[in-house]
Amino acid sequence: MGSFKDITDSLTLSPQAVLRVTDKFTEALSNRPADYGLKLLDSTFGRPTGNERGEVLVVDFGGTNLRLLLVDLKGHRAYEVLNQRVINLRQNRTGLDLTSDSAQADQMFGYIAAEIEDFIGIDRDYRLGHSFSFPARHLNRNSAILLEWTKEIRTKSVVGQDVNLLLQQALQRRGMANIQTKAIINDAVGTLLAGAYQNLEADVGSICGTGHNSCFVDEEGRLINTESGNFFDEVLPVTKFDRQLDDSSLHPRAQRLEKMVAGAYLGELYRLILLDLAENTDSFDQSIRLAKVFPARNSIDSADISALLQDRTFTADGKEYGLSTSDFQIVEEIARLLVVRSAQLIAATYLGIINHIDRDHQRRHIITIDGSLYEKMPYFAKTIQDTLHVIYPAHHHLIQLRFSKDASGIGAAVAAAMAK
Ligand code: BGC
Repeated sequence: MGSFKDITDSLTLSPQAVLRVTDKFTEALSNRPADYGLKLLDSTFGRPTGNERGEVLVVDFGGTNLRLLLVDLKGHRAYEVLNQRVINLRQNRTGLDLTSDSAQADQMFGYIAAEIEDFIGIDRDYRLGHSFSFPARHLNRNSAILLEWTKEIRTKSVVGQDVNLLLQQALQRRGMANIQTKAIINDAVGTLLAGAYQNLEADVGSICGTGHNSCFVDEEGRLINTESGNFFDEVLPVTKFDRQLDDSSLHPRAQRLEKMVAGAYLGELYRLILLDLAENTDSFDQSIRLAKVFPARNSIDSADISALLQDRTFTADGKEYGLSTSDFQIVEEIARLLVVRSAQLIAATYLGIINHIDRDHQRRHIITIDGSLYEKMPYFAKTIQDTLHVIYPAHHHLIQLRFSKDASGIGAAVAAAMAK
């Protein structure tokens, strides 16, 4: 039987443990990346000039939520988001969960096309840039084949298909020849494109949100998608809770790093730990009551963790629960440790990427980051910064972290403008 201390110890990473991950990630990038789950996919895009212009319609397909944006690229590194709309693919007008395996590709893309029609209203010509947040292999700038779904999406007959072709065909079925898909990019690549549109030194892009992934500019100037969320090696400090979560996930053994760090999974990890503490230890004053709070899978999400750390309210499934002071301290400590561990592991991969692209640490680097964890989760951004400092005290000043809101979508607009 584990104790509270055993659990907190297993979630706490020493600087040496972080450095081991950094070193292994560095090695994986240059030596047999596939053995470690990395994909190093060529995005077929290089850096933008910052002078790309024009109004672009963007589909930002992040996961269950998809966003449509109208972006005006003004040149001179400036842009404006003119309009945007969020679409939920799970709960929608069709009554069918379009992310489940009861849905087919044409239903999913047909729905997206209908929403696009409603969003743009008037019948004018648009170039479309697609930020697609899943691993895909590019055939060219406007076509990429989905390799596999991640983030618990299961829609049928999309894996193995050219995603922009599916979208273009769905638009054609609605008679919308005025919209032409021009580019498809991964969201991490989009984030880097948006960062590089604004700043010459941006050379790493990353998503810390529902999912996690990073990309970088290689020595030939190409933007390479690492699919770092799928990284796995024995150096990862996997706990029994990580294993439990992986075993019960829709895609076991896939996305092992992502399952330890990303917003889609932190809530479930947290639930598994609290349940174990309530059922198998005498840590809580009110363990019977607490065990009843979390009976169902995914009854707590990363927004609950955020609320706990920020507003000191303990919520699950939309309900708030009052806790004794000592019980609150326990749930708070576990939440903080999970968030800190996530940020430390992500920082380790950032350092691995910097080691790979600039072995002697001679240049400045800007890591452009988008995603709700980085934007909103208490402790997260600061821990990444602190970890860079602890691991590379002499060089950390060369690395700047920059949050860029909507960057994946802005980057898709930049990509469409680059593709012409
Ligand atoms: C996907 C990546 C994506 C990341 C962030 C992961 O699940 O595999 O392609 O960039 O999520 O959205």
